[in-house]
Parts: sequence; structure tokens; C-alpha cells
Amino acid sequence: MDVIQAIQSRHSVSKVKPDALPREMIEGLLRAAVQAPNHHKVRPWRFVVLTGAGRERLGEAMAVSQRDRQPDLPPEAFDKTRALPLRAPVVIAVGADKPAESRIIEIENVSAASAACQNILLAAHAQGLGAIWRTGEWARDPKVKEFLGFEADQHIVGFLYVGWPEFTAEFAERPGFEDRTVWMD
Ligand SMILES: Cc1cc2nc3c(=O)[nH]c(=O)nc-3n(C[C@H](O)[C@H](O)[C@H](O)COP(=O)(O)O)c2cc1C
Repeated sequence: MDVIQAIQSRHSVSKVKPDALPREMIEGLLRAAVQAPNHHKVRPWRFVVLTGAGRERLGEAMAVSQRDRQPDLPPEAFDKTRALPLRAPVVIAVGADKPAESRIIEIENVSAASAACQNILLAAHAQGLGAIWRTGEWARDPKVKEFLGFEADQHIVGFLYVGWPEFTAEFAERPGFEDRTVWMD
């Protein structure tokens, strides 16, 4: 599949099989990630790869944080939260570094880390894997950040859920670029 075909045919896949992925395959996704452009060569992306029990520990951190914030929720709510990272065999948390010098700009670091996320989605798709980019409240949760080794003021740009697709789905065509584009000749 060439890059244009990959871009045109990529769709998010939220239902994947529980089968583990070989480590080389995950490393291949990360190699694709770090091909993303970044300003000042700061390589602002940080990856935390959660597999196996690592996903359970993430789920626990999410549930504990939710219980601290919303203690009156029923126990089922915490169980549901705890199970969220188990939706795929591989969850890659992608963070962006805070700028360390004045010439480094936060949005540029976030942009570069986001480009790394898209590279992962495309590389996964090109190999027949299914993936989806998720954030939710967990990406902004200080306790989740702490669990992942991120600073409280560092951005998590996404949790990428990756695995073999559960089934081949039909996807609707996306709206085009025309109503989002102005030409200045
Ligand atoms: C930064 C970001 C965060 C997202 N967070 C979520 C999320 O938490 N849950 C979700 O279902 N989709 C989330 N999405 C949307 C999906 O990743 C996906 O793009 C959307 O469902 C459209 O599907 P498509 O990628 O096939 O066009 C997010 C997308 C982006 C770019």
C-alpha cells in the first residue's frame, strides 16, 4: 500500500482482537512515529507502551483517580473505567515535552507529537492493524499523568489503541476539503 492509499483508506478501528502483537511490530510503529517533523530537532514526543498487565495498571490508576474526584459514583462505574485500557492489546500513550527554552513553543511540540500519532495510525493501517486515537478526561488527569511518568503540566496528546481488527467494517466517505478551504491566488 502506498502512502496515498494508506491515507485515503485509513479509518479508526475501535473493536480489535485481544491477541498480543509482536514487539517488533510495535517497535515498527514507533519507528514510523519518530519520522514526524519537529521544530528545532527537539523530538518532543514521549511514548509509554502499555501491554498485558501494564494496561490493567493504567485502568487501576484511572479508576482510583475517578473515585477520588467522584466518590459517589456506583462501583460499576469504576469497574467500567478500569476496563477501558483493555479494549486493545496495545495502548500507546503519547505525550509532548514542555518547552525547555524560550525558542521552543508548546503548540509546536504538541503539533509534532500529534504528527507522530498520525504516523502510528497510518503505519498500523498499512500493516492491516486497526487503531484509534483516544483522549477523554484521562488525557488531562494529573494522576494518570503521574502513573505514566508525565509531569502534571505536560500534555498527553493521545492514547492510541492498536490491535488486529475484529471485523472488516464498511466506512462512510468523509466530507471533502472544499468547505474548509480558501484559495488565495
Ligand atoms: C486528539 C483526538 C482525540 C480523540 N479522542 C477520542 C476519544 O476519546 N474517543 C473517541 O471515540 N474518539 C476520539 N477521537 C476521534 C477518533 O480518533 C476518530 O478520529 C473519529 O472517530 C473519526 O474516525 P476516523 O478516524 O475513522 O475518521 C479523537 C481524535 C483526536 C484527533
